[in-house]
Amino acid sequence: MLDKLKDNNRRWAERKVAQDSDFFRRLERQQAPEYLWIGCADSRVPANEIVDLDPGELFVHRNVANLAPPQDANYLSVLQFAVDVLKVKHIMVVGHYGCGGVSAAVDGNRRGLVDHWLHPIREVAHMHRAELDAIPDHRRRMDRLCELNVIRQVRNVASDVFVQDAWGRGQPLSVHGWVYSLSNGLVNDLGVTTSHVAEIDRLI
Ligand code: CO
Repeated sequence: MLDKLKDNNRRWAERKVAQDSDFFRRLERQQAPEYLWIGCADSRVPANEIVDLDPGELFVHRNVANLAPPQDANYLSVLQFAVDVLKVKHIMVVGHYGCGGVSAAVDGNRRGLVDHWLHPIREVAHMHRAELDAIPDHRRRMDRLCELNVIRQVRNVASDVFVQDAWGRGQPLSVHGWVYSLSNGLVNDLGVTTSHVAEIDRLI
């Protein structure tokens, strides 16, 4: 079972050791990533590959539609570990255009549990309905909702007590909002980088 994947794994590990004989021994001792990536679970948005980083360089949390819900124990555990223990310097919330989770949040179809998970996106859509309604093209409207969702999640992260406490003790930490394009492989920086408590009010 899964022989192809096991073969792939063996060849990958051999390649890593051929390039750098100490690679795995060094990583085994400790991880010291500078970045936390909060991204969508979509298989087309592989975190490390997109920014061309090796194992050990990127701490990753992924879920459907790249949400940072303030009551989600999974996300909060990742965030606290990244901020308090790893002391990452940057947190990127990374959405992607054409996100099925974002469209599913507002298409009116019922799917079950995921409808509850996606509730925060319906709230974002409601808050920005005037701007969204003014975009006639459906795809472009959904792409804008992907951006607005990312900005909202940047706000969630930046206003979290773990992040605020880090800033309070003078720890350098920036929260960024990016949207990845499936069509050309490039990330679009939304220009909402937040590095200080006073900058949160600029966010939606
Ligand atoms: Co997605």
